[in-house]
Parts: sequence; C-alpha cells; structure tokens
Amino acid sequence: MKGVMLVGGEGTRLRPLTCNIPKPMVPIANRPFLEVMIGQLKAHGIDEIILCMGYLPDKIRSYFGDGREFGVRLTYVVEASPLGTSGAVKNVEQLLDDTCFIFNADIITDLDLTAMLRSHRERGAKVTIALTPVEDPTSYGVVETAADGRVRRFIEKPAPGEATTNLINAGTYVLEPEVLSLVPPGVFHMFERGLFPDLLQRGDPMFGYPSRCYWIDIGTPQRYLTVHRDLLGGQVAMALPGAKLGDGIWAEEGVRIDPTAQITGPVVLGRGCVIGGQARVTGPTVLGANCEVGAEATVEGAVVWRNARIGQRVVIRSSAVGEGVCLAEGAWLTGGVVVGDGACIGADNRLEHGARIWPGKTLEPGTLTF
Ligand code: GDD
Ligand code: MG
Repeated sequence: MKGVMLVGGEGTRLRPLTCNIPKPMVPIANRPFLEVMIGQLKAHGIDEIILCMGYLPDKIRSYFGDGREFGVRLTYVVEASPLGTSGAVKNVEQLLDDTCFIFNADIITDLDLTAMLRSHRERGAKVTIALTPVEDPTSYGVVETAADGRVRRFIEKPAPGEATTNLINAGTYVLEPEVLSLVPPGVFHMFERGLFPDLLQRGDPMFGYPSRCYWIDIGTPQRYLTVHRDLLGGQVAMALPGAKLGDGIWAEEGVRIDPTAQITGPVVLGRGCVIGGQARVTGPTVLGANCEVGAEATVEGAVVWRNARIGQRVVIRSSAVGEGVCLAEGAWLTGGVVVGDGACIGADNRLEHGARIWPGKTLEPGTLTF
C-alpha cells in the first residue's frame, strides 16, 4: 500500500527548533519524528512511501536513504517552490495507481489506519478524512458531517465562533487518486481550501472518520513538550528507546549516573548521558545522546537534544533545548523557553515566559533576568 507524506512545510511555529532541521526530523523521545511515523505506517502495511519535500530535504534523505533499513521503500520528490498540500500530491500523481493514504507529517497519533481504510472502502468514498475532537478548533480545519458521516462543510482555520463542531481534520486522508484530476498541475493548491470544497460542491462522496485515538499536531513548542509528557506518561501506544533501569527510567547504552543524583521517572536518557552529583532529573524529561548534566543541576519536564552541556546548578523546567547547547553554571530556563542549536547561555541568566533563543547565539553571563 502506498502512502504520501507531506513534508514540505518550514515548521515556522516550531522555530528555533526547526531552523537547522525540517519538522519531520525533530526528535520525539530521541528518534526523528519521521522514523516514528514510518514505523507506524509499516505496521499497517503501508510500505511504499512517497515524501513530498521542500524545506531542507537533504537532512531527511541522508538519514533515511532508500528506506530499506527501516523496512519500507522511500521515494523522494522535491518541489522547486511550495506546491501546497494537494498541489504536492498532484505533483506525484503519476506514482499513484490505487487507493492511497496521505499524511500531514507533523502529527503523533495512534489512529487505526487499517480500520480507516476499511471504512473508506465500505462506504465507497472518494476521500475519507480522519477527524479528531479538539478544544479550540480555530487553528485547524473544521469538518462538519451528516449523521451518516458524509462531509457537509470544511472550514479551514475558522474565525472564533464560526465553527459549529469541535471535530477537526486530523491530517490523514484515504484518497482515490482520480480526484486529483480536479487539481491544476504545477501550481500552489490546497486540499483544505481547494480540493475538499470543490469535491463537496460536486457532491462527490467524502466521509469523515472520527476517532478518539491519541492525536496531537507537534507544530508548536508547547505541543512539542506536551507530546513528550503524554508519550512518557503512557498515553500513546508507542515504545520508548533504551532499557528500563527502574520505575519509569529508560536508559540507552553508556549512561553514567552519579550515585547521589536523583532520577525520578518518567525519564529517557540517551546514549552516553552523564548525570553529575546531586543533580535532579525529574520526569517527564528526555535527554538526548551524550548530554552532560552538572552537579546540583535540576532538569524537570524538559526535552533536551543531544550533546547539551548543562552546567552546575542550572535549572531547566518545562523547556526545550536544541542540539549542542551550552548552559553555564546557574543559568535558569523555566516556563516554555526554547533554545536553538549551539546557543550558549552564560552563567546566571534567567529565561522565562517562552523566551526563544536563536541557534548559535551567545548570552553573556548575567545578561537577562526576569
Ligand atoms: N510538500 C509540501 N509542500 N508539503 C507541505 C506544503 C507544501 O507546499 N505546505 C505544507 N506542507 C505540509 C507540512 O509539512 C505539514 O506536514 C502538512 O503539510 C500540513 O501543514 P501545516 O503547516 O502543518 O498545516 P496546519 O497544521 O496549519 O493545518 C493542517 O493540519 C491540521 C491538523 O494538524 C490542515 O490540514 C488542517 O486542516 C488540519 O486540521
Ligand atoms: Mg501542522
């Protein structure tokens, strides 16, 4: 079975985490998001995957190659300029000969794809859209359906008060490739504002597939932290990397923990992490490979990418830290701070309130306090 993944977005809302890598390469518990997703697709028999790319495609290609190592066959198609969601699929139309899946590639879900495909076939749909309930639908595509599941209206990013349901487009579609004949070739075109409304107008059978599975779009720093909290908290059916050391502690090879350090799960420690004396690492926290946590440092509710140097008495709470970041003695990051790759936070800086530090930047000691 074939699946098309839309991986062309720039991931602007996740910056600075996505300044150097595209959103699909952002690690989820120390594995690139796309690797997690490929594993799920494979489990449902989707083993021929076409990647429609735009932003930083080589970072994806060099990691996954032809896909063999991951048990799938990958085809890469790079757009010279962004073609939009349906425009990107139109661009690979010649590779699609049968019913296929289309995926927004920034969603963590345990949706039952096999059951969704069955429903698509049973109802003779041209398109089936996975639906999920959310609290605030304004940053999504709202999908109104009739009692039999047929889509009646599709409103992308509705204004507050405009949505009549909290069921939104969950970013997974089953599609009959014939509908692509409605998409003009070589131009920017979107499912959400173009093809879906067009199909509705024609009266083609388009159905919603609602489910109460786990679902989250990882596209903002806040949601990136939330997905880790949920994943480590066992709310998503997904294995965590490494061996289980103790209650809620997963550690990959070569981890060294000082006997006076206090690790409270759920915590994932990447390969080669070193945790210093009297340091406290409290879940839900993920440390990437080769992170060093200094003496008496506190890391809590954080996601830290590989090669971070966390100095003595540093405090990181509810924040995300990119690759190779250096946090000098006594630095504080709390409340949704995001630090880009290779940044250096000098001693005794205090960052709060979702501050974002761009990759490679240096904050001199004691520059910022709140
Ligand atoms: N190849 C390609 N080309 N991919 C693209 C392009 C493009 O021009 N533009 C966006 N994408 C990819 C993104 O990489 C992402 O995987 C997916 O299409 C959706 O784009 P987002 O930018 O993440 O859209 P969104 O989150 O605002 O809204 C979409 O997803 C929601 C669910 O999370 C819409 O489909 C909404 O209707 C939906 O509710
Ligand atoms: Mg998105």
